Amino acid sequence: MNFQLTEEHLAVQAAARDFAQTELLPGVIERDEHQKFPAEQIKKMGELGFMGMMVDPKYGGGGMDTVSYVLAMEEISKVDASASVVMSVNNSLVCWGLEHFGTEEQKQKYLTKLATGEIIGAFCLSEPEAGSDATSQRTLAEDKGDYYLLNGTKNWITNGSTASVYLVIAQTDVEKGHRGINALIVERGMEGFEIGLKENKLGIRGSDTHSLMFTDVKVPKENRIGEDGFGFKFAMQTLAGGRIGIASQALGIASGAMELALKYSKERKAFGVEIAKHQAIQFKLADMATNIEAARMLCLQAAYHKDQHMDYTRSGAMAKLYASKVAMETTVEAVQIHGGYGFVKEYHVERLMRDAKITQIYEGTSEIQKIVISRDLLK
Ligand code: CAA
Ligand code: FAD
Repeated sequence: MNFQLTEEHLAVQAAARDFAQTELLPGVIERDEHQKFPAEQIKKMGELGFMGMMVDPKYGGGGMDTVSYVLAMEEISKVDASASVVMSVNNSLVCWGLEHFGTEEQKQKYLTKLATGEIIGAFCLSEPEAGSDATSQRTLAEDKGDYYLLNGTKNWITNGSTASVYLVIAQTDVEKGHRGINALIVERGMEGFEIGLKENKLGIRGSDTHSLMFTDVKVPKENRIGEDGFGFKFAMQTLAGGRIGIASQALGIASGAMELALKYSKERKAFGVEIAKHQAIQFKLADMATNIEAARMLCLQAAYHKDQHMDYTRSGAMAKLYASKVAMETTVEAVQIHGGYGFVKEYHVERLMRDAKITQIYEGTSEIQKIVISRDLLK
């Protein structure tokens, strides 16, 4: 067993840390307050290779492993979880899904642009009545011979108004249940495709979350990903890896909050000494550090499983379940360590606390992760 990161891993980690501190930190409070999408920053992330990190270089990607991706996600998320969700969706849902299941034509047409960050993508599974219960798809993709006629509504779509390419999951054959679902590539601007209002959120406010409406959108057959009826398996297999990305996001939110709390505890004085001298604060820091280290190990283990082509469904779900809990607990304690200053925006920890919550909800709630883990244990 080797816990040592390679020179390459350390270089990716350092590059992500440097980018986060110099390009994301300035303006992060304002972007959160005004729900401003980090457009310029995402463009630069594309130029630096963070938008298609694991994609084969022949399609414009970085050809890196999942461990590198986890390390970069942690550093970006320490500072700006809104930017990191854009990165996570693009890398582990859209690029990964297309690279692994798309045709060569689809890869040439879409993946090459997505992997370089020239355009960004969205992954559209959730609906008003199909969140956790993802097989209950109401969006219909009727088979019309050489095209699908798409009708329905998707909810909560990250990169909803900023994406150019949308992977849309929809029901073709109702009789066949989840085996009658397809995954279709829908382009922004296709006739009948409308973007709904932006959600006003508790956290990750810089990311744009929208509902999407499809009315008689004609999607050419060549835009289907995989065989007829593969759509639900496509979504599940893609999400299994996506959850490693969100676990790393949660890890970054937690470790960012811990770094701030550690620094503050050595600066702030109460009762004549730095608050770090009080054992109550020391114990909070010790708990944070231990929990974060355990979360990091789970994230890296899931990434290792994926890199070694082992089954990572259970380890990815465990990483997400645990890291998101640690993110929530750590950020609440980081606010506590900051006292009243933690409750105002300038000190960053209140934002990290708000951002932490979503990691227990999206890409499968914590309850859904427990379903995935227990089914795998019991199978
Ligand atoms: N890999 C491959 N196939 C899988 C699979 C996996 N990991 N998990 C399930 N399947 C297959 C099953 O084998 C089954 O197929 P067969 O019948 O042919 O064997 C089929 O999928 C249906 O599986 P289940 O019977 O287990 O389905 P279920 O209705 O009990 O639901 C569930 C399973 C795990 C709860 C699933 O519905 C789920 O993951 N729900 C959560 C949805 C979710 O994570 N949404 C995230 C949206 S994207 C997002 O959120 C992005 C973002 O925020 C940034
Ligand atoms: P529900 O499924 O209605 O769940 C409500 C509660 O019931 C939860 O606590 C849940 O855990 C619990 N519950 C449900 N079923 C069970 C069960 N069987 N056992 C125990 N408990 C259960 N989706 C996309 O497709 N693409 C995106 O890009 C995307 N981005 C998102 C961004 C944001 C900011 C948000 C808020 C959501 C996003 N989502 C996206 C949707 C997200 O994946 C869903 O919100 C999530 O899967 C939960 O679905 P739901 O909101 O319908 O909750």
